[in-house]
Amino acid sequence: MANHPCFSKTILGMALLLLLAAASVHGKVPRIGFYDETCPKAESIVTKAVKKGLKENPRIAPGILRIAFHDCFVRGCDASVLIEGPGTEKTSGANRNIQGYNVIDDAKTELERVCPGVVSCADILTLAARDATVLTGGASWKVPTGRKDGLVSLVAEAGPLPGPRENVSEQIRKLDEIGLNTQDLVVLLGSHTLGTTSCALFRFRLYNFTNATESGADPSIDPKFLPTLRKLCPDGGNGSVRVHLDNRSGEKFDTTFYKNLKRGRGVLQSDQVLWTDLRTQPFVRRLLDSEAYDALNFKVEFGKAMVKMSLIGVKTNPKESEIRKVCTAVNSLVSSY
Ligand SMILES: *[C@@H]1O[C@H](CO)[C@@H](O)[C@H](O)[C@H]1NC(C)=O
Ligand SMILES: *[C@@H]1O[C@H](CO)[C@@H](O)[C@H](O)[C@H]1NC(C)=O
Ligand SMILES: *[C@@H]1O[C@H](CO)[C@@H](O)[C@H](O)[C@H]1NC(C)=O
Ligand SMILES: *[C@@H]1O[C@H](CO)[C@@H](O)[C@H](O)[C@H]1NC(C)=O
Ligand SMILES: *[C@@H]1O[C@H](CO)[C@@H](O)[C@H](O)[C@H]1NC(C)=O
Repeated sequence: MANHPCFSKTILGMALLLLLAAASVHGKVPRIGFYDETCPKAESIVTKAVKKGLKENPRIAPGILRIAFHDCFVRGCDASVLIEGPGTEKTSGANRNIQGYNVIDDAKTELERVCPGVVSCADILTLAARDATVLTGGASWKVPTGRKDGLVSLVAEAGPLPGPRENVSEQIRKLDEIGLNTQDLVVLLGSHTLGTTSCALFRFRLYNFTNATESGADPSIDPKFLPTLRKLCPDGGNGSVRVHLDNRSGEKFDTTFYKNLKRGRGVLQSDQVLWTDLRTQPFVRRLLDSEAYDALNFKVEFGKAMVKMSLIGVKTNPKESEIRKVCTAVNSLVSSY
Protein backbone atom coordinates (compact mmCIF):
# COMPACT_ATOMS: atom_id res chain seq x y z
CA MET A 1 0.00 0.00 0.00
CA ALA A 2 2.84 2.34 0.91
CA ASN A 3 4.32 1.92 -2.59
CA HIS A 4 1.13 2.88 -4.25
CA PRO A 5 1.93 5.84 -6.53
CA CYS A 6 -1.15 7.78 -5.42
CA PHE A 7 -0.19 7.40 -1.80
CA SER A 8 3.37 8.71 -2.20
CA LYS A 9 2.07 11.57 -4.31
CA THR A 10 -0.23 12.50 -1.48
CA ILE A 11 2.64 12.41 0.98
CA LEU A 12 4.70 14.57 -1.33
CA GLY A 13 1.82 16.97 -1.73
CA MET A 14 1.32 17.19 1.99
CA ALA A 15 5.01 17.82 2.58
CA LEU A 16 4.95 20.57 -0.01
CA LEU A 17 1.92 22.17 1.60
CA LEU A 18 3.60 22.07 4.99
CA LEU A 19 6.69 23.68 3.50
CA LEU A 20 4.60 26.44 1.92
CA ALA A 21 2.75 26.99 5.16
CA ALA A 22 6.05 27.31 7.02
CA ALA A 23 7.32 29.79 4.44
CA SER A 24 4.19 31.91 4.71
CA VAL A 25 4.37 31.94 8.51
CA HIS A 26 7.93 33.13 8.23
CA GLY A 27 6.92 35.73 5.64
CA LYS A 28 3.96 36.95 7.69
CA VAL A 29 4.09 40.65 8.45
CA PRO A 30 4.09 42.11 11.03
CA ARG A 31 6.00 39.45 12.95
CA ILE A 32 8.24 39.33 15.99
CA GLY A 33 11.90 39.78 15.09
CA PHE A 34 11.30 41.26 11.62
CA TYR A 35 14.54 43.28 11.85
CA ASP A 36 16.70 40.50 13.36
CA GLU A 37 18.79 40.21 10.19
CA THR A 38 18.31 43.56 8.48
CA CYS A 39 18.82 45.81 11.51
CA PRO A 40 19.57 43.84 14.66
CA LYS A 41 19.97 46.98 16.73
CA ALA A 42 16.57 48.42 15.72
CA GLU A 43 14.80 47.73 19.00
CA SER A 44 17.67 48.74 21.26
CA ILE A 45 18.11 52.02 19.38
CA VAL A 46 14.44 52.87 19.94
CA THR A 47 14.68 51.94 23.62
CA LYS A 48 17.72 54.15 24.04
CA ALA A 49 15.93 57.13 22.49
CA VAL A 50 12.89 56.67 24.73
CA LYS A 51 15.08 56.37 27.83
CA LYS A 52 16.90 59.57 26.96
CA GLY A 53 13.67 61.41 26.17
CA LEU A 54 12.06 60.28 29.40
CA LYS A 55 14.97 61.57 31.44
CA GLU A 56 14.50 65.01 29.93
CA ASN A 57 10.72 65.07 30.09
CA PRO A 58 8.41 62.56 31.82
CA ARG A 59 5.49 63.77 29.71
CA ILE A 60 6.83 61.89 26.68
CA ALA A 61 5.71 58.53 28.13
CA PRO A 62 1.97 59.27 28.11
CA GLY A 63 2.63 61.34 25.00
CA ILE A 64 4.01 58.46 22.95
CA LEU A 65 1.16 56.17 24.03
CA ARG A 66 -1.29 58.81 22.91
CA ILE A 67 0.46 59.37 19.59
CA ALA A 68 0.45 55.60 18.95
CA PHE A 69 -3.28 55.35 19.67
CA HIS A 70 -4.07 58.38 17.51
CA ASP A 71 -1.99 56.91 14.72
CA CYS A 72 -3.72 53.52 14.72
CA PHE A 73 -7.17 55.08 15.05
CA VAL A 74 -6.76 56.96 11.77
CA ARG A 75 -5.85 54.91 8.65
CA GLY A 76 -4.31 52.16 10.78
CA CYS A 77 -0.86 52.07 12.34
CA ASP A 78 1.02 53.68 9.47
CA ALA A 79 2.67 56.72 11.09
CA SER A 80 0.24 59.04 9.28
CA VAL A 81 0.03 61.05 12.51
CA LEU A 82 3.72 61.98 12.26
CA ILE A 83 3.55 63.74 8.89
CA GLU A 84 3.88 67.52 9.12
CA GLY A 85 2.42 70.19 6.88
CA PRO A 86 -0.81 72.08 6.34
CA GLY A 87 -3.92 69.94 6.65
CA THR A 88 -2.20 66.87 8.15
CA GLU A 89 -3.50 64.86 11.12
CA LYS A 90 -0.81 66.38 13.28
CA THR A 91 -2.39 69.85 12.97
CA SER A 92 -5.60 68.74 14.69
CA GLY A 93 -6.22 69.96 18.25
CA ALA A 94 -6.01 66.40 19.57
CA ASN A 95 -2.51 65.90 18.19
CA ARG A 96 -0.90 69.29 18.65
CA ASN A 97 -0.38 69.39 22.37
CA ILE A 98 1.37 66.02 22.76
CA GLN A 99 4.97 65.56 23.87
CA GLY A 100 7.12 62.81 22.44
CA TYR A 101 7.30 63.41 18.69
CA ASN A 102 10.96 64.41 19.11
CA VAL A 103 11.78 60.99 20.56
CA ILE A 104 10.47 59.25 17.44
CA ASP A 105 12.51 61.63 15.28
CA ASP A 106 15.67 61.03 17.35
CA ALA A 107 15.27 57.27 17.04
CA LYS A 108 14.70 57.60 13.30
CA THR A 109 17.82 59.75 12.81
CA GLU A 110 19.96 57.17 14.58
CA LEU A 111 18.35 54.27 12.70
CA GLU A 112 18.97 55.96 9.35
CA ARG A 113 22.61 56.29 10.32
CA VAL A 114 22.94 52.63 11.35
CA CYS A 115 20.64 50.92 8.83
CA PRO A 116 19.35 53.43 6.28
CA GLY A 117 15.98 52.83 4.66
CA VAL A 118 15.15 49.76 6.72
CA VAL A 119 13.07 50.59 9.80
CA SER A 120 9.66 52.22 9.33
CA CYS A 121 8.38 55.10 11.43
CA ALA A 122 5.23 53.08 12.13
CA ASP A 123 7.38 50.40 13.76
CA ILE A 124 9.46 52.96 15.68
CA LEU A 125 6.26 54.42 17.15
CA THR A 126 4.91 50.98 18.07
CA LEU A 127 8.19 49.95 19.72
CA ALA A 128 8.46 53.28 21.53
CA ALA A 129 4.96 52.82 22.99
CA ARG A 130 6.09 49.48 24.47
CA ASP A 131 9.29 51.04 25.83
CA ALA A 132 7.46 54.01 27.37
CA THR A 133 5.20 51.55 29.20
CA VAL A 134 8.05 49.41 30.48
CA LEU A 135 10.18 52.35 31.55
CA THR A 136 7.36 53.74 33.70
CA GLY A 137 6.63 50.45 35.49
CA GLY A 138 4.54 48.40 33.04
CA ALA A 139 5.23 44.85 31.86
CA SER A 140 7.03 44.19 28.60
CA TRP A 141 5.64 42.47 25.52
CA LYS A 142 7.00 41.35 22.18
CA VAL A 143 6.19 43.77 19.37
CA PRO A 144 5.48 42.34 15.92
CA THR A 145 7.25 44.55 13.36
CA GLY A 146 7.38 44.96 9.59
CA ARG A 147 4.84 47.74 9.12
CA LYS A 148 5.38 50.27 6.38
CA ASP A 149 4.61 53.98 6.50
CA GLY A 150 1.52 55.44 4.85
CA LEU A 151 1.53 58.16 2.22
CA VAL A 152 -1.59 60.08 3.28
CA SER A 153 -2.43 62.23 6.31
CA LEU A 154 -5.62 64.31 6.50
CA VAL A 155 -6.69 66.49 9.43
CA ALA A 156 -10.38 65.81 8.78
CA GLU A 157 -9.80 62.14 9.55
CA ALA A 158 -8.48 63.00 13.03
CA GLY A 159 -11.81 64.71 13.85
CA PRO A 160 -13.57 61.56 15.09
CA LEU A 161 -10.85 60.64 17.62
CA PRO A 162 -12.45 59.77 20.98
CA GLY A 163 -12.96 62.91 23.07
CA PRO A 164 -12.87 63.75 26.79
CA ARG A 165 -16.62 64.35 27.10
CA GLU A 166 -17.79 61.17 25.42
CA ASN A 167 -20.16 58.65 26.97
CA VAL A 168 -19.47 54.92 26.97
CA SER A 169 -21.79 54.19 24.01
CA GLU A 170 -19.85 56.62 21.89
CA GLN A 171 -16.48 55.28 23.00
CA ILE A 172 -17.54 51.67 22.40
CA ARG A 173 -18.87 52.58 18.96
CA LYS A 174 -15.65 54.31 17.95
CA LEU A 175 -13.41 51.49 19.09
CA ASP A 176 -15.67 48.92 17.47
CA GLU A 177 -15.15 50.69 14.15
CA ILE A 178 -11.44 49.89 14.34
CA GLY A 179 -11.97 46.34 15.58
CA LEU A 180 -11.47 46.85 19.32
CA ASN A 181 -13.98 45.64 21.92
CA THR A 182 -15.23 46.90 25.29
CA GLN A 183 -12.47 45.18 27.25
CA ASP A 184 -9.87 46.73 24.93
CA LEU A 185 -11.45 50.14 25.59
CA VAL A 186 -11.21 49.81 29.36
CA VAL A 187 -7.70 48.37 29.25
CA LEU A 188 -6.31 50.88 26.76
CA LEU A 189 -7.78 53.81 28.69
CA GLY A 190 -5.71 52.48 31.57
CA SER A 191 -2.87 54.32 29.83
CA HIS A 192 -4.33 57.32 31.72
CA THR A 193 -2.38 55.93 34.65
CA LEU A 194 0.20 58.29 33.17
CA GLY A 195 -0.06 61.89 32.12
CA THR A 196 -1.98 65.07 32.54
CA THR A 197 -4.86 66.96 31.00
CA SER A 198 -5.74 70.63 30.88
CA CYS A 199 -8.44 72.26 33.01
CA ALA A 200 -10.22 73.34 29.86
CA LEU A 201 -11.13 69.74 29.05
CA PHE A 202 -12.96 68.90 32.27
CA ARG A 203 -13.80 72.14 34.09
CA PHE A 204 -17.43 71.89 32.95
CA ARG A 205 -17.72 69.02 35.45
CA LEU A 206 -16.79 71.26 38.36
CA TYR A 207 -19.01 74.32 38.11
CA ASN A 208 -21.74 74.03 35.55
CA PHE A 209 -22.64 70.44 34.92
CA THR A 210 -25.88 69.32 33.29
CA ASN A 211 -27.96 67.68 36.05
CA ALA A 212 -25.50 68.90 38.63
CA THR A 213 -25.45 68.65 42.38
CA GLU A 214 -26.50 71.81 44.24
CA SER A 215 -22.97 73.15 43.95
CA GLY A 216 -23.00 72.77 40.16
CA ALA A 217 -20.67 69.79 40.07
CA ASP A 218 -20.94 66.42 38.37
CA PRO A 219 -22.46 64.14 41.05
CA SER A 220 -20.10 61.31 40.08
CA ILE A 221 -17.11 63.27 41.47
CA ASP A 222 -16.02 62.21 44.97
CA PRO A 223 -17.13 65.19 47.17
CA LYS A 224 -13.78 64.97 48.98
CA PHE A 225 -11.92 65.28 45.68
CA LEU A 226 -14.01 68.15 44.32
CA PRO A 227 -12.28 70.92 46.33
CA THR A 228 -8.90 69.67 45.04
CA LEU A 229 -10.01 69.87 41.45
CA ARG A 230 -11.63 73.26 42.00
CA LYS A 231 -8.47 74.58 43.56
CA LEU A 232 -6.38 73.33 40.65
CA CYS A 233 -8.86 74.71 38.13
CA PRO A 234 -10.67 77.81 39.43
CA ASP A 235 -13.83 78.92 37.66
CA GLY A 236 -12.77 81.33 34.93
CA GLY A 237 -9.08 80.57 35.58
CA ASN A 238 -6.35 79.52 33.20
CA GLY A 239 -7.66 76.63 31.11
CA SER A 240 -4.15 75.51 30.09
CA VAL A 241 -3.10 74.51 33.60
CA ARG A 242 -2.40 70.76 33.67
CA VAL A 243 -3.75 68.23 36.15
CA HIS A 244 -2.73 64.58 36.64
CA LEU A 245 -5.23 62.12 35.16
CA ASP A 246 -4.27 59.64 37.86
CA ASN A 247 -4.21 61.56 41.13
CA ARG A 248 -1.17 60.73 43.30
CA SER A 249 0.36 58.24 40.86
CA GLY A 250 0.59 60.15 37.59
CA GLU A 251 4.08 59.07 36.59
CA LYS A 252 3.84 55.39 37.45
CA PHE A 253 2.27 52.72 35.29
CA ASP A 254 -0.07 50.96 37.75
CA THR A 255 -3.73 50.31 38.60
CA THR A 256 -4.23 53.43 40.72
CA PHE A 257 -6.10 54.96 37.80
CA TYR A 258 -8.84 52.31 38.12
CA LYS A 259 -8.87 52.63 41.92
CA ASN A 260 -9.45 56.32 41.47
CA LEU A 261 -12.37 55.69 39.10
CA LYS A 262 -14.00 53.49 41.73
CA ARG A 263 -13.75 56.35 44.23
CA GLY A 264 -15.09 59.00 41.86
CA ARG A 265 -11.64 60.44 41.31
CA GLY A 266 -11.47 60.17 37.57
CA VAL A 267 -10.61 63.56 36.10
CA LEU A 268 -11.96 63.31 32.57
CA GLN A 269 -15.64 62.58 32.12
CA SER A 270 -14.78 59.95 29.48
CA ASP A 271 -12.70 58.14 32.13
CA GLN A 272 -15.13 58.39 35.05
CA VAL A 273 -17.99 56.94 32.98
CA LEU A 274 -16.03 53.67 32.72
CA TRP A 275 -17.05 53.17 36.35
CA THR A 276 -20.57 54.60 36.25
CA ASP A 277 -21.57 52.67 33.11
CA LEU A 278 -22.55 49.06 33.74
CA ARG A 279 -21.08 47.81 30.47
CA THR A 280 -17.56 48.87 31.41
CA GLN A 281 -17.65 48.69 35.21
CA PRO A 282 -17.25 44.87 35.29
CA PHE A 283 -13.93 45.20 33.45
CA VAL A 284 -12.71 47.84 35.89
CA ARG A 285 -13.66 45.50 38.75
CA ARG A 286 -11.81 42.58 37.20
CA LEU A 287 -8.72 44.71 36.67
CA LEU A 288 -8.82 45.77 40.31
CA ASP A 289 -9.63 42.47 42.00
CA SER A 290 -6.64 40.18 41.55
CA GLU A 291 -8.32 37.50 43.69
CA ALA A 292 -11.43 37.16 41.54
CA TYR A 293 -11.87 34.01 39.44
CA ASP A 294 -12.12 36.21 36.36
CA ALA A 295 -9.40 38.65 37.38
CA LEU A 296 -7.57 40.57 34.68
CA ASN A 297 -3.93 41.50 35.21
CA PHE A 298 -3.73 45.07 33.96
CA LYS A 299 -0.07 45.02 32.94
CA VAL A 300 -0.45 41.78 31.01
CA GLU A 301 -3.74 42.78 29.41
CA PHE A 302 -2.34 46.15 28.43
CA GLY A 303 0.42 44.49 26.41
CA LYS A 304 -2.10 42.24 24.69
CA ALA A 305 -4.41 45.12 23.85
CA MET A 306 -1.48 47.16 22.54
CA VAL A 307 -0.44 44.32 20.21
CA LYS A 308 -4.03 44.00 19.00
CA MET A 309 -4.20 47.73 18.39
CA SER A 310 -0.83 47.74 16.64
CA LEU A 311 -2.13 45.33 13.99
CA ILE A 312 -4.94 47.66 12.86
CA GLY A 313 -4.73 48.56 9.18
CA VAL A 314 -1.06 47.66 8.80
CA LYS A 315 0.28 48.52 5.36
CA THR A 316 2.78 46.47 3.39
CA ASN A 317 1.75 47.10 -0.22
CA PRO A 318 4.46 49.20 -1.98
CA LYS A 319 1.75 51.09 -3.91
CA GLU A 320 0.36 52.65 -0.72
CA SER A 321 3.34 52.57 1.63
CA GLU A 322 7.09 53.04 1.96
CA ILE A 323 9.87 53.23 4.52
CA ARG A 324 10.08 56.95 5.20
CA LYS A 325 13.49 58.61 5.31
CA VAL A 326 12.25 61.07 7.91
CA CYS A 327 9.11 60.51 9.94
CA THR A 328 7.69 63.98 9.35
CA ALA A 329 7.38 63.74 5.54
CA VAL A 330 6.69 61.26 2.75
CA ASN A 331 9.78 60.46 0.69
CA SER A 332 8.56 62.21 -2.47
CA LEU A 333 8.66 65.49 -0.52
CA VAL A 334 12.10 65.02 1.03
CA SER A 335 14.21 67.10 -1.32
CA SER A 336 17.66 66.63 0.17
CA TYR A 337 17.92 63.05 -1.09
C1 LIG B 1 -23.94 59.29 23.95
O1 LIG B 1 -23.43 60.33 23.15
C2 LIG B 1 -23.94 60.36 21.84
C3 LIG B 1 -23.17 61.41 21.05
O2 LIG B 1 -23.05 62.59 21.76
C4 LIG B 1 -25.43 60.65 21.92
O3 LIG B 1 -25.99 60.69 20.61
C5 LIG B 1 -26.09 59.54 22.72
O4 LIG B 1 -27.47 59.84 22.88
C6 LIG B 1 -25.45 59.38 24.08
N1 LIG B 1 -25.94 58.17 24.67
C7 LIG B 1 -26.37 58.12 25.95
C8 LIG B 1 -26.84 56.79 26.43
O5 LIG B 1 -26.36 59.11 26.68
C1 LIG C 1 -23.71 76.93 32.18
O1 LIG C 1 -24.22 76.04 31.20
C2 LIG C 1 -25.35 76.55 30.51
C3 LIG C 1 -25.88 75.44 29.62
O2 LIG C 1 -24.87 74.67 29.06
C4 LIG C 1 -24.91 77.79 29.73
O3 LIG C 1 -26.01 78.33 29.04
C5 LIG C 1 -24.35 78.82 30.72
O4 LIG C 1 -23.85 79.93 30.01
C6 LIG C 1 -23.24 78.22 31.56
N1 LIG C 1 -22.85 79.17 32.59
C7 LIG C 1 -21.59 79.41 32.90
C8 LIG C 1 -21.36 80.38 34.03
O5 LIG C 1 -20.64 78.91 32.32
C1 LIG D 1 -31.06 65.00 33.51
O1 LIG D 1 -32.08 64.53 34.38
C2 LIG D 1 -33.32 64.34 33.74
C3 LIG D 1 -34.36 63.99 34.80
O2 LIG D 1 -33.85 63.05 35.70
C4 LIG D 1 -33.17 63.25 32.68
O3 LIG D 1 -34.38 63.03 32.00
C5 LIG D 1 -32.09 63.66 31.68
O4 LIG D 1 -31.85 62.59 30.78
C6 LIG D 1 -30.80 64.01 32.39
N1 LIG D 1 -29.86 64.58 31.43
C7 LIG D 1 -28.60 64.19 31.36
C8 LIG D 1 -27.77 64.86 30.33
O5 LIG D 1 -28.12 63.35 32.10
C1 LIG E 1 -1.72 79.45 31.69
O1 LIG E 1 -1.10 78.25 32.09
C2 LIG E 1 -0.08 77.81 31.22
C3 LIG E 1 0.38 76.44 31.70
O2 LIG E 1 0.63 76.41 33.05
C4 LIG E 1 1.03 78.84 31.18
O3 LIG E 1 2.04 78.44 30.31
C5 LIG E 1 0.47 80.20 30.75
O4 LIG E 1 1.46 81.17 30.83
C6 LIG E 1 -0.72 80.59 31.62
N1 LIG E 1 -1.37 81.78 31.06
C7 LIG E 1 -1.73 82.81 31.80
C8 LIG E 1 -2.42 83.91 31.09
O5 LIG E 1 -1.49 82.84 32.99
C1 LIG F 1 -4.36 64.53 44.52
O1 LIG F 1 -5.44 64.79 45.36
C2 LIG F 1 -5.07 65.40 46.60
C3 LIG F 1 -6.29 65.57 47.46
O2 LIG F 1 -7.21 64.53 47.34
C4 LIG F 1 -4.41 66.74 46.33
O3 LIG F 1 -3.99 67.31 47.56
C5 LIG F 1 -3.24 66.59 45.40
O4 LIG F 1 -2.77 67.86 45.02
C6 LIG F 1 -3.62 65.81 44.15
N1 LIG F 1 -2.38 65.53 43.44
C7 LIG F 1 -2.28 65.53 42.13
C8 LIG F 1 -0.92 65.25 41.60
O5 LIG F 1 -3.22 65.73 41.38
